[in-house]
Amino acid sequence: MANVVVVGSQWGDEGKGKIVDWLSERADVVVRFQGGHNAGHTLVIDGTVYKLSLLPSGVVREGKLAVIGNGVVIDPHALVSEIDKLAGQGLSITPDNLRIADNATLILSLHRELDGYREDAASNSGTRIGTTRRGIGPAYEDKVGRRAIRVMDLADIETLPGKVDRLLTHHNALRRGLGHPEVAHSAIMTELTSVSERILPYQETVWRLLDQHRRKGARILFEGAQGTLLDIDHGTYPFVTSSNTVAGQAAAGSGMGPGAVGYVLGITKAYTTRVGEGPFPTEQNNEVGQFLGERGHEFGTVTGRKRRCGWFDAVLVRQAVANNGITGIALTKLDVLDGLDELKICIGYRIDGEEVDHLPASQGAQSRVEPIYETLEGWKESTVGARRWTDLPAQAVKYVRHIEELIGAPVALLSTSPERDDTILVTDPFED
Ligand code: GDP
Ligand code: IMO
Ligand code: MG
Repeated sequence: MANVVVVGSQWGDEGKGKIVDWLSERADVVVRFQGGHNAGHTLVIDGTVYKLSLLPSGVVREGKLAVIGNGVVIDPHALVSEIDKLAGQGLSITPDNLRIADNATLILSLHRELDGYREDAASNSGTRIGTTRRGIGPAYEDKVGRRAIRVMDLADIETLPGKVDRLLTHHNALRRGLGHPEVAHSAIMTELTSVSERILPYQETVWRLLDQHRRKGARILFEGAQGTLLDIDHGTYPFVTSSNTVAGQAAAGSGMGPGAVGYVLGITKAYTTRVGEGPFPTEQNNEVGQFLGERGHEFGTVTGRKRRCGWFDAVLVRQAVANNGITGIALTKLDVLDGLDELKICIGYRIDGEEVDHLPASQGAQSRVEPIYETLEGWKESTVGARRWTDLPAQAVKYVRHIEELIGAPVALLSTSPERDDTILVTDPFED
């Protein structure tokens, strides 16, 4: 029996939420370990749609413990409104089923504002990242800069004013430089104290709680957000998010050792999408991209932005298999490809006439990548809602098998619709 880490193997939105929800039936504890409410995960259960951002996708199942680890950046107001929204859908989130790391960093309104100011300023110079404008990057900067306000600070009313002072010295200098008004100390104090009563009941020494569960033999499911190509180190820098999204972060972002992580499940879309700016070698800015976007409903859960769409890029996913130590993948949205005459898969790159087998780290080289494609025959039959391997058309099986071969990892799960149960189990990650 292994604990399982779920990570995105592309640029996010691979269907992690659906798969985490499906897998959490087999888990006792579900832990978020990085990112924040830049994530958007859509779950569909018997026709009811749940949209989650900050809460682990395990919260929709009764009897599961959801945990937000120290590696996450938490906007307390966003968290409270997500909890209230789910209450409106009949889901009760209380300290009995949700615990939050006391040492997790808080996102404040000044982080969100700074994110927006920078994006607006950059749109004139063409250096925009296309962030979700949720304050994720600025909050992680303050964490690393050792001036962040953390969950536990909400309880320490004696030392909080001094911490806010330190934070504002930094932020007000930045804001003046960007031509924006300074923030008053009292405004931040009010922002924090107005929410502390709602947040503090959830605070926990998460590493200790997880250690206790592990020793009791509980099954732990770690839920990654974003995707490997958005990783701050391994992604398409600077067009990335501000955290490590790879499986290794599950340990650091929760306070467990790497030995706690067993099976690494890479969630992989049967084609490729990306939101925001940055290189995308297999992007199809044509009728193919339009077909994928329409059939796959490729609009962001968080910002509603249209996702860019393209062919499956085996080079990138093979790289993600290495960066995460992926044991097996969950291949999602195979049904979106139904009806295409032919399918292309990128099997290598050409840069300045030279063949390369990986995406180089240099931004310049990334922008000059030309994909090398292989063409496979499509299928006309519908795979929507298929629940057995034997229900898949022969060409679809061939496509899946070829992907396994190219990326060097087997398919453990296959998803054929947004619905929880439209999922084919090949290998149970918890039993492997
Ligand atoms: P995440 O960020 O990785 O959790 O993914 P999102 O939830 O942002 O985006 C994936 C979208 O695809 C959601 O709207 C899901 O409901 C949907 N989805 C997930 N799996 C499948 C699938 O196998 N087929 C189809 N058609 N849609 C799926
Ligand atoms: P899930 O968990 C897709 C992208 C943004 C932008 C870049 C930086 O739903 O897969 P940020 O706000 O993080 O500073 O933005 O990262 N991005 C995502 N793209 N899915 C996500 O999460 C994303 N979270 C951030 O679009 O390009
Ligand atoms: Mg998403």
